[in-house]
Amino acid sequence: MYNKNAQKMDALHTFYHIILVISNVVHGLDWLIDDIPMQSTWSETRDGLGLLTNGLISKTFITTPDFACIDFYDNHTTFSSLQRSIEPEAVIMLDGIVYPIGGVLTNIPLAYLNRSAFAQNITRNENAFHLKSSLVTFDLTTPFPYTPRRGAPKNINWPPKGIHIEFNFTAPFWAPDFHKDLVVTVTYEMYDSVPGFSKWITVTALKPVPDIYVSFLSVEYLAVNMPWSPNGKGWLFVETDQPHGTNVVWGSDPASVSMPGSFEQTVNCTYETDHPVAVPIVNSLSSFKVHELVIASSDPERIALSKHRLFRLLAPHTQENPIFFHMTNQSSEAFRTVIDQMAEVGFEMLIYSFGSGFNIESEDEAYIKRMAADIRYANSKNIEVGGYDLIALTRRTAVDWMAIDPSTMQPSGNACFASDWYDFLLKRMMTFMDRTNLSMVETDGPYGGYPCASTNHSHHTDLGDSIYKQNTLQAQFYTTLRKRSIYINQPDYYFYSGGSRTGMGYNENQYSLPRWQDISVSRQGMYDDTYQRIPTAGWMFVPLVDYHGGGEAAAFEPLTEHIVEYEWALAQYLGAGVAACYRGYRLYDSLETKALVTKWVSFYKKYRDILISDIVHVRRADMQGIDSFMHVNPKLDYKGLAMVFNPTQTSIDMNLKLPLYYTGIPDKAMVREQEGQFIEYDLDRGYNIEVPVHLKPLGITWFLIQQSVD
Ligand SMILES: *[C@@H]1O[C@H](CO)[C@@H](O)[C@H](O)[C@H]1NC(C)=O
Ligand SMILES: *[C@@H]1O[C@H](CO)[C@@H](O)[C@H](O)[C@H]1NC(C)=O
Ligand SMILES: *[C@@H]1O[C@H](CO)[C@@H](O)[C@H](O)[C@H]1NC(C)=O
Ligand SMILES: *[C@@H]1O[C@H](CO)[C@@H](O)[C@H](O)[C@H]1NC(C)=O
Ligand SMILES: *[C@@H]1O[C@H](CO)[C@@H](O)[C@H](O)[C@H]1NC(C)=O
Ligand SMILES: *[C@@H]1O[C@H](CO)[C@@H](O)[C@H](O)[C@H]1NC(C)=O
Ligand SMILES: *[C@@H]1O[C@H](CO)[C@@H](O)[C@H](O)[C@H]1NC(C)=O
Ligand SMILES: *[C@@H]1O[C@H](CO)[C@@H](O)[C@H](O)[C@H]1NC(C)=O
Repeated sequence: MYNKNAQKMDALHTFYHIILVISNVVHGLDWLIDDIPMQSTWSETRDGLGLLTNGLISKTFITTPDFACIDFYDNHTTFSSLQRSIEPEAVIMLDGIVYPIGGVLTNIPLAYLNRSAFAQNITRNENAFHLKSSLVTFDLTTPFPYTPRRGAPKNINWPPKGIHIEFNFTAPFWAPDFHKDLVVTVTYEMYDSVPGFSKWITVTALKPVPDIYVSFLSVEYLAVNMPWSPNGKGWLFVETDQPHGTNVVWGSDPASVSMPGSFEQTVNCTYETDHPVAVPIVNSLSSFKVHELVIASSDPERIALSKHRLFRLLAPHTQENPIFFHMTNQSSEAFRTVIDQMAEVGFEMLIYSFGSGFNIESEDEAYIKRMAADIRYANSKNIEVGGYDLIALTRRTAVDWMAIDPSTMQPSGNACFASDWYDFLLKRMMTFMDRTNLSMVETDGPYGGYPCASTNHSHHTDLGDSIYKQNTLQAQFYTTLRKRSIYINQPDYYFYSGGSRTGMGYNENQYSLPRWQDISVSRQGMYDDTYQRIPTAGWMFVPLVDYHGGGEAAAFEPLTEHIVEYEWALAQYLGAGVAACYRGYRLYDSLETKALVTKWVSFYKKYRDILISDIVHVRRADMQGIDSFMHVNPKLDYKGLAMVFNPTQTSIDMNLKLPLYYTGIPDKAMVREQEGQFIEYDLDRGYNIEVPVHLKPLGITWFLIQQSVD
């Protein structure tokens, strides 16, 4: 059934034996540090099992009497099964009829899979769609092409390397005729060197059919053993690629199906239950993607680094990291003045801030021509220019384009992103970009998950499909921009469809705090949020001019007067690899402040590769002593860079313990304070070293870490 010719099967069998040999090589390696010398493969054994594996994890399937996954195994950390019982691959509903996709019937208990008992009693589920065909390729799907730029690592693989395997299913014999004209495809993409994969469902009409209403009830439903569930140890990470309208629901089997005395865990990846998605099929319809990652650890640092690796793999563009400025004055004179300053100190991107009067939707010829000329001026100095717009959430548009609140049937306060507003906005933005060479946007208020009950919007039918369609179009909007290499600030989670960056570690109000309070809580917030995000996917703020409030106590202007605080802001954000919106109308106001900005921008550019690498958390700022975070990257020559701050009013001399495990350095490290001399350190049994720190009041320093070459 899987492979059309026997020769190919033989080749795969041989390959399968090779895998078994290679898996010994994988054994003992840590995918977060070491190169994993194995590719993802699909192979079939003579006893009719299909094995999908990358050496780190594996999924085993049976093909008769129907297609079903019988094992999901962790081959690299716990060497144990995640999966405890057999479920269909997915569940869909067509015109009110619920169909499992594959799966088999058995009467064995659900607490664990007893393979002998299972083998004695498996029957085909006649209610289910049945396996028809399959296809294996090594070409993974991506929403857009990508070539690294704007400081992103140059060695990014895109598409990611791995295996793509799809299984086609057709309707059971008793199904209505129109349902027999549909094919349901279950696709897996397993990645090389990462213990994870993506999975999604597509429904395709083979010939024109009348409207069929499709609901994706479960894109993935797993029966898992306790440690993998958040109710146990949370060792399996599951997310969808969409920020709204989808749910990853962890639960347990109802008492009626589980074995008495056991607490059986499940996860159901589905659309939100309050508005089940029912979408008429046109030609083909795809679900969201599920991402699954076998973290197999409860250590917060390892969990964070694992998720970050998957994120970098699937949203590589989020590693771009232009140093940027938020301009509050859109006059040509002020613009060109600040562009000159930016060019002097090495800033790379300017955005016309909210409140600057910038209007990307404008059709005013004179305005567009002036913008084009100003942007040309910036481009001539190698500076990119972007602008702000409010696009959906809280955006007021023509009343016909507003989302209709289903409870009142009146326009809500938000635009419907599946109305003609979508086309209007996209066209205006594209035209403006074409004419001015604007190459960055800050799209505030992206679609936020709200329904729309209108029945006369062009891109959705009614309430039922309004969330699905708005989500899909918001994603498509970002993908369209991303295909043009537009850099996108979006305060949401549209990263997998093209978003570059979102707010990190802050609440708007903290930028109205007095400067030292702002700097301190911001450093704490950024520290906490770098467990959730890679540094380059977040932004912070430096309110050079008054932001929401806070007046003179909060603003960093006049800069020379607040030079110490200004240096802290530059050091903590550039040192974290997290872009800050320096929001105002100039970057420096004296030779001293110019030298300061130059110093930290040069530091950033010199150590950029390690500064945009992931963060290991050393000591959270409590303002009682020094605090520190450290970038790590086993793939670079500079394998670690620790930033160290003394926010107190007293001098501090102490030894600081740096955990070097994730630098990949095995036993001896060379460490240099700033541009000083390298000193060799032996790592202790926990891969730590202790470096002496001497910091004056409000002092800042950093340590660079390499592997010892002897
Ligand atoms: C992973 O584990 C599965 C299930 O035990 C096994 O069949 C497979 O051979 C292992 N794969 C590798 C590459 O070790
Ligand atoms: C096999 O399982 C089915 C349910 O799937 C059950 O009805 C049947 O009794 C079982 N047969 C045996 C021999 O256990
Ligand atoms: C597994 O199933 C076999 C056959 O039904 C049975 O004899 C055996 O006791 C079962 N083992 C466990 C651990 O449940
Ligand atoms: C699965 O069905 C789709 C839709 O008809 C088709 O494009 C694809 O080639 C099929 N794949 C296989 C492996 O049969
Ligand atoms: C999974 O969630 C969907 C949507 O809420 C629901 O219809 C379905 O019954 C759930 N599956 C299981 C097995 O509970
Ligand atoms: C913007 O800059 C221009 C030119 O420097 C200046 O005349 C104008 O007052 C500024 N506008 C604001 C609102 O600061
Ligand atoms: C447009 O901007 C890009 C930077 O995004 C720059 O490389 C290019 O040279 C600019 N094109 C023109 C015609 O100025
Ligand atoms: C769309 O429907 C709303 C009622 O929901 C109505 O007020 C409006 O006039 C309709 N617009 C068009 C263009 O038909």
